[in-house]
Amino acid sequence: MRMYDIIEKKRDGLILSEDEIRYFISGYTNGTIPDYQVSALLMAIYFQGMNQTELAYLTKAMVDSGDTIDLSAIEGVKVDKHSTGGVGDTTTLILAPLVASLGVPVAKMSGRGLGHTGGTLDKLESIPGFHIEITRDEFIQRVNQNKVAVIGQTGNLTPADKKIYSLRDVTATVNSIPLIASSIMSKKIAAGSDAIVLDVKTGQGAFMKQASEAEELAKSMVAIGNKTNRKTIAVISDMNQPLGYAVGNALEVKEAIETLQGNGPKDLTELCLTLGTYMVVLSGVVQTEKEARKKLEENLQNGKALQTFKLFIESQGGDPQVVDDPDRLPQAKYKIEVPAKKSGTVSKIIADDIGTIAMSLGAGRQTKDDVIDLAVGIVLHKKIGESVKAGETLVTIHSNHEDISDIKPKIYESILISGDNVTSPRLIHNIIS
Ligand code: URA
Ligand code: CA
Repeated sequence: MRMYDIIEKKRDGLILSEDEIRYFISGYTNGTIPDYQVSALLMAIYFQGMNQTELAYLTKAMVDSGDTIDLSAIEGVKVDKHSTGGVGDTTTLILAPLVASLGVPVAKMSGRGLGHTGGTLDKLESIPGFHIEITRDEFIQRVNQNKVAVIGQTGNLTPADKKIYSLRDVTATVNSIPLIASSIMSKKIAAGSDAIVLDVKTGQGAFMKQASEAEELAKSMVAIGNKTNRKTIAVISDMNQPLGYAVGNALEVKEAIETLQGNGPKDLTELCLTLGTYMVVLSGVVQTEKEARKKLEENLQNGKALQTFKLFIESQGGDPQVVDDPDRLPQAKYKIEVPAKKSGTVSKIIADDIGTIAMSLGAGRQTKDDVIDLAVGIVLHKKIGESVKAGETLVTIHSNHEDISDIKPKIYESILISGDNVTSPRLIHNIIS
């Protein structure tokens, strides 16, 4: 087999065979096929696309390029959740204990934040004492015991994806639906999940700006799931503004606690209930969506989800008292209120920009090696569609620097107030299964 022929075939819009796909993935992973040939193939895929069968082969070949996690020692159907990335997206912190409180095993492998989006591991580490450095055996044992545990990325999972992603980054081929779909699904499958619930974001603050693009990505990922024996459901959700009110690590933990107490922001609560419903149904613990949703709502109200969160924190060395006393979380030195300059209705909250402002306060990493400040961030007081009076607080900035003169103008540029009637954007755009 020759890489030249594979490139030529895809360039001409033909379908690649499983052998051809495996040949290029293994050759690239072990270094026998050079970057320039894979670059050419990626560009051919960018223009010609891949059908569902090719996508499933590509995903499986990427999974097989490295280690896979064996979760078979955990009883029950392991359902994972993946979000394509949002600002202020605290759903994992809520969903993991919420779903676990119904007896669904949550064995979660999470990552750190990079750029304008945060990471679950960083958020959890803002709980004093909490650590994710547990062994594979401890991880499995804790899921069996408490139904929930979170671990950092361990092992050499999907090395082919790592190499290809780096190459895509410098060859203008990141934005290709088949390449994104196989990249995400290969990582979920390698991490050992039996079933997958995807939260595909759409809108200004999302990777997929148009709902139609998000749908196409969701369909590709669901098709890969179906062809690889992982039941997969995708929820298309809105990212035209940050989720909830808080953006920043400890601030989002506090918001997660409030949500688990049944007092969370409306959008965040609704998204958790929607994603949670599908996780519970895919796990088989509850048969119907209606019943799953009812039980999840009950556990938010009766304290069971919160109790599971406490147990989970304690089992990973964290201080469970943060749940009753969130002031035990890291606090920023300065809490600076930014008032609205005029009266009207909030018409836009540019999610990316809010994420970038939080990052510049220290809440996020510009590069992988940056050290972050867990206490800082932004708390919105108004969301799109809410009315505001001149002088009323628009956001509170939590900062460890007193001088935020460079930040304030950016806040005003990222939150727009208009005089018109504005309605809040629909949260759930579609469900793909
Ligand atoms: N996230 C991924 O993991 N892979 C992509 O290709 C894009 C987003
Ligand atoms: Ca939030």
